[in-house]
Amino acid sequence: MTNLASDYLILWASQTGNAEWIAKNIHTEAGKKGYKGECFVMDEFAVAPLQKAGIIIMVSSNTGDGDSPDNSLKFWKFLRRNKDKAYFTNTRFTILGLGDSNYSNFNNSGKKLEKKFKDLGAQVFYEKGLADDAEGLENIVDPWIEKLWEVLPTVLKQDGNVSIESSIAHEKELEKEMTELAINPVDVPYSMKNRKKTLPDLVEKYTNLENTLVDNFTMEARRENLPGNVSDYTKLDDTLVNGKNKVFKNGYPLIVSLAGLEAGAKLTGLPRVSVPVAKLSKLEGQKAEDLSGKLPDFVSTPVPVIYAPVTMVSCLTAPDAVKRTLEVELDVGEDNHFDPGDAFGVLAPNDEELVEAVLNRLNVPEKEFHQLYNVEGENLPSHLQKAASTTLIELFRYAVDLTSHPRKALFRMLADHTTDPKEKLALMYVCSKQGTAAFNSIREETPTLLDILETFPSCHPPIDRLLDLLPAHMPRFYSISSSPLKRQGKIRFAFNVVEYITAGKAQRKGVATPWMDKITQLIPSRSTPTNVEITVKEDIKVPMYIRQNANAFVLPQETERPLVLIGPGTGIAPFIGFLEHRQTQRNIRLSMGGIGHQPTQQIRDSFGPIYVYYGFREKSKDFLFEKEINEFKADGTISHLRIAESRATDAPKVYVQDLIKEDSAKLYELIVNKDATIYICGDAKGMAKGVQDALAEMLVEHQKIDLLEANKTLVGWISSKKYLRDLVSLNKFFIVVT
Ligand SMILES: Cc1cc2nc3c(=O)[nH]c(=O)nc-3n(C[C@H](O)[C@H](O)[C@H](O)COP(=O)(O)OP(=O)(O)OC[C@H]3O[C@@H](n4cnc5c(N)ncnc54)[C@H](O)[C@@H]3O)c2cc1C
Ligand SMILES: Cc1cc2nc3c(=O)[nH]c(=O)nc-3n(C[C@H](O)[C@H](O)[C@H](O)COP(=O)(O)O)c2cc1C
Repeated sequence: MTNLASDYLILWASQTGNAEWIAKNIHTEAGKKGYKGECFVMDEFAVAPLQKAGIIIMVSSNTGDGDSPDNSLKFWKFLRRNKDKAYFTNTRFTILGLGDSNYSNFNNSGKKLEKKFKDLGAQVFYEKGLADDAEGLENIVDPWIEKLWEVLPTVLKQDGNVSIESSIAHEKELEKEMTELAINPVDVPYSMKNRKKTLPDLVEKYTNLENTLVDNFTMEARRENLPGNVSDYTKLDDTLVNGKNKVFKNGYPLIVSLAGLEAGAKLTGLPRVSVPVAKLSKLEGQKAEDLSGKLPDFVSTPVPVIYAPVTMVSCLTAPDAVKRTLEVELDVGEDNHFDPGDAFGVLAPNDEELVEAVLNRLNVPEKEFHQLYNVEGENLPSHLQKAASTTLIELFRYAVDLTSHPRKALFRMLADHTTDPKEKLALMYVCSKQGTAAFNSIREETPTLLDILETFPSCHPPIDRLLDLLPAHMPRFYSISSSPLKRQGKIRFAFNVVEYITAGKAQRKGVATPWMDKITQLIPSRSTPTNVEITVKEDIKVPMYIRQNANAFVLPQETERPLVLIGPGTGIAPFIGFLEHRQTQRNIRLSMGGIGHQPTQQIRDSFGPIYVYYGFREKSKDFLFEKEINEFKADGTISHLRIAESRATDAPKVYVQDLIKEDSAKLYELIVNKDATIYICGDAKGMAKGVQDALAEMLVEHQKIDLLEANKTLVGWISSKKYLRDLVSLNKFFIVVT
């Protein structure tokens, strides 16, 4: 067929690794299917065959408030400047967007990309997919990719002389093998204590299925097929002896109910078997260097890492508060520029006990933890690309995520490395369409890798397959809550320590916040009263980097401009920095003196009014920054303060949005007539939605427009940066400690 393009181009943009993983999987699988093409991160567009490739497949996630990931910002600059309506005239494209419906700007970046590509003359060859992390990305991603393989032969040349019809038929056959499995009913729910050694015939048959799309990755096959340089690694598996002299942490095995499995049922919708990429090879005779608290070389950051000493710690909550909030000060040095409201990334390791227990469960003897390895492979994900000459313990500390929601593809891979038929069936079931409820309840438990492996004792995955399937370990971001004018070279921030108990009674904790809590435990913060600043003299350093003005969530240059600051809980943190900055700016100007009749008044007038809407549960327990807020109010830095208490004894629950509704007339005057900038920080769903509704009501009432128009006005304010939102999905930010 003449109209077939000869090459494809995959462009991806990813903030936390999902889009990259998916894009690279598509690329590797496309290659195996006989298509020719390349895969680039969007910001490398200049070296990509942008106009030459007839087919462009884009995978893009979202960050901030419907913003495109940081590694696509240059590409977006290029697209915005490009006004050539025929630029992509020979291009057909499709988009897979990754988003989260807890954010009101759901999948905005994918939608924007589609519009821009159409404006530049490109044509859609396959309808875009918009996946939702709130529900599980796989629900959309897997079927979208399956369908892509059906559509692709109609627009892109495949190797050889395969006709479109036979190519599609071939793909379908492969899909069927990979994603469908007929099984007999299973009469008992699966749990660790209740395992069977038998598996229905059809399942047994499936487990031996030759998968023609991917390399067969059983240990036997690996031994036979491995190139010389990696064969040494496999010897590890033979020589493994559990280092049982040490007691390792235990996990919380899951109970997997197979209740949804019916007689004669057929498991369908199994996730795609991802193509093996990473290959570990042992570096014999080489010793690992002591990193002395430094990060391993493979950890890459957009700007150099600062090892910032902790100089102060303070506990902001009462001992009986629901959440434990700490404030920490870091010395980043005066050469590092930042503004209040900027965020910075903390590079914390995975919990040491968990890492060791996982390695132990993977049968790595303790003496091997520090053995050097290389990680090699085509299309390695970014977080593994520089993992040369590193140890297993560093890889499990800093390269892979051991604690966030597991991917279905992980369970699918684990099934391939599980010998007990009952366990294998349970693993296949949870990642099938029929097992959706079972998968969702596992997801809600946010099991660690250790929990999963302990649930399936006969599962022994090779470490390189785990490297393929585990998400990247990511930095955690924190908003700067101090002003560089007041505290030169020092950054303050506040965070809730993430610790909680799941519905299944498993104790869980986050990665970065318990780590920061732990390293500062040298200071007796628990035995000191709330809000006492403890100076830290010990040598405690936090590896971090400053992400300057990534989302424009900073103060306007003109100090006259009025501000409305809305931030319950730790959402108040960046605003403490804003207020400290304005207060210091004003004090500096006052100390320098003014001119004219009433110099002091003139200086005061050059600072616009600041309205603050802040909320917490109980005044006596979690009124964060109480002293500072009262001081800002007393000296006029805050002109109007409204406090919402949601769990006051003998009083109704009050939220910030309720106070905004009460102040509707005042706020209209400030926001519309005096052109105030509105900032909101905190929960993306409940609070942000409530505030949005309250602001829309304000416009309906005072501007006399209907709700539709009011919401359009708000969208306009968001895009013109009059209304700035720094939002994080509830689960990811406000943490309940039970
Ligand atoms: C730009 C930006 C600025 C930020 N600023 C701040 C800030 O100033 N202060 C701050 O505290 N955080 C802030 N965050 C959030 C912060 O980055 C981390 O996400 C947070 O501290 C948790 O990190 P962690 O490693 O301790 O927990 P993680 O290991 O990331 O675990 C958090 C996860 O645990 C799960 N979880 C937590 N609680 C529960 C529960 N009760 N029930 C079920 N599941 C639960 C959720 O899946 C959640 O995503 C910011 C985030 C961004 C993107
Ligand atoms: C801080 C933050 C902000 C986000 N903002 C949005 C958003 O505005 N709209 C949206 O649809 N998804 C949003 N998301 C969800 C991500 O796009 C989604 O989790 C995606 O799977 C991330 O993929 P990545 O790992 O490739 O970056 C946000 C996620 C985070 C952590």
